[in-house]
Amino acid sequence: MNILLIGSGGREHALAWALARSPRTETLYVAPGNAGIAAEATCIALDVSDHSAVITFCRDHDIELVVVGPEAPLVDGLADSLKTAGIKVFGPSAAAARLEGSKGFTKDLCARAGIPTAAYGRFADAASARAHVEANGAPIVVKADGLAAGKGVVVAMTRDEAFEAIDACFEGEFGAAGAEVVVEAFLQGEEASLFVICDGRTGLALATAQDHKRVGDGDTGPNTGGMGAYSPAPVMTDELTRQAMDEIIRPTIDTLAADGTPFVGVLYAGLMITDKGPELIEYNVRFGDPECQVLMMRLESDLVDLLEAACDGHLDEAKAVWRDEVALTVVLAARGYPGTYEKGTEIRGLADLEDDPLLKVFHAGTRSQEDRILANGGRVLNVTALGSSVAEAQARAYAAVGRIDWPEGFCRTDIGWRALKR
Ligand code: AMP
Ligand code: GLY
Repeated sequence: MNILLIGSGGREHALAWALARSPRTETLYVAPGNAGIAAEATCIALDVSDHSAVITFCRDHDIELVVVGPEAPLVDGLADSLKTAGIKVFGPSAAAARLEGSKGFTKDLCARAGIPTAAYGRFADAASARAHVEANGAPIVVKADGLAAGKGVVVAMTRDEAFEAIDACFEGEFGAAGAEVVVEAFLQGEEASLFVICDGRTGLALATAQDHKRVGDGDTGPNTGGMGAYSPAPVMTDELTRQAMDEIIRPTIDTLAADGTPFVGVLYAGLMITDKGPELIEYNVRFGDPECQVLMMRLESDLVDLLEAACDGHLDEAKAVWRDEVALTVVLAARGYPGTYEKGTEIRGLADLEDDPLLKVFHAGTRSQEDRILANGGRVLNVTALGSSVAEAQARAYAAVGRIDWPEGFCRTDIGWRALKR
């Protein structure tokens, strides 16, 4: 079948790579893609905010499945438009995508369904949010309600930090996303991510992963989209995964179905493993980036079969098979990221890394110019390796990083440290 994948990051390169290796895939189109994706698929320019243009493209190119990578087009209702046009799409409706688009919506759903999560309040003005902080004290967590590119959360260690975060939201730092604020209790524990594909009724647990959000070694410095990841997450035992499926994922799927807004797509649960068990920190309605890269590296099953089973409501008959090895990815970013950085610098040495079956360099922000590869974003490459242990995967990934010639790039040197310490 012909498939259209929407997106341009490392996550989409990993998805394109997994979709392209399915014997069922005839032509894979990616809009807009990047220099690495161009090696697996046909990259096309398409304005994804123009839903009728996407529908026209699908009709003209006999697209039988659309896979949406990032959250913004989902929150914007692209899946609804495609579905109405009779085109099969993997990704939730705008109503179900509120799980990521509104933190208050998710907290209310958790309250209704009895899902373990931090106690919270929703506030539409600074005075009442401040009063809640006064009453509860610090540490406490302040979150802009809407999509804020991962920057809308402040874990405040003092009341003053919490007041500052509240004022920033209501003074418009995050635009409309900060018009409402969620203030919640601070949870203590280790974080892990669980990925589950859903067909509206059934959830099929994929693998677990952990990422490194801070820019600097030892988990220091500002938050980023993610500087590296590995799968599986050793903190998530099979028993904890079962508990998270029973207490968090299943009630979420059931509640959305009962509300008439069934969830089809991937549920990415950010979990805190507390001494009471897994608690929900947040939901995303897409694969994590760079967590998707390590998942796709370990996936043995046919991704087209799995995503189609989700679209068709047959996940109860599906099974996902994983390689036993650990996968680990190191993000190479442009110097200055997550602040300002230069674009257009040249990356050399990638061709030499193509023959190792235990290694894959996914492109995140790259473009090609004749036969040169140029950096074209903050996070630029994801050097991803398999190994029989975290240490082996880590060594293989960093050995490859050492062979990439890109003086304007940097990476963390300790991806996987938490797993190694165990
Ligand atoms: P979020 O965007 O909601 O995942 O939050 C970003 C990060 O803030 C999470 O990955 C956690 O490290 C931290 N965080 C969010 N909520 C809490 C909480 N209630 N307690 C402790 N840390 C939190
Ligand atoms: N790596 C974190 C995210 O995808 O949101």
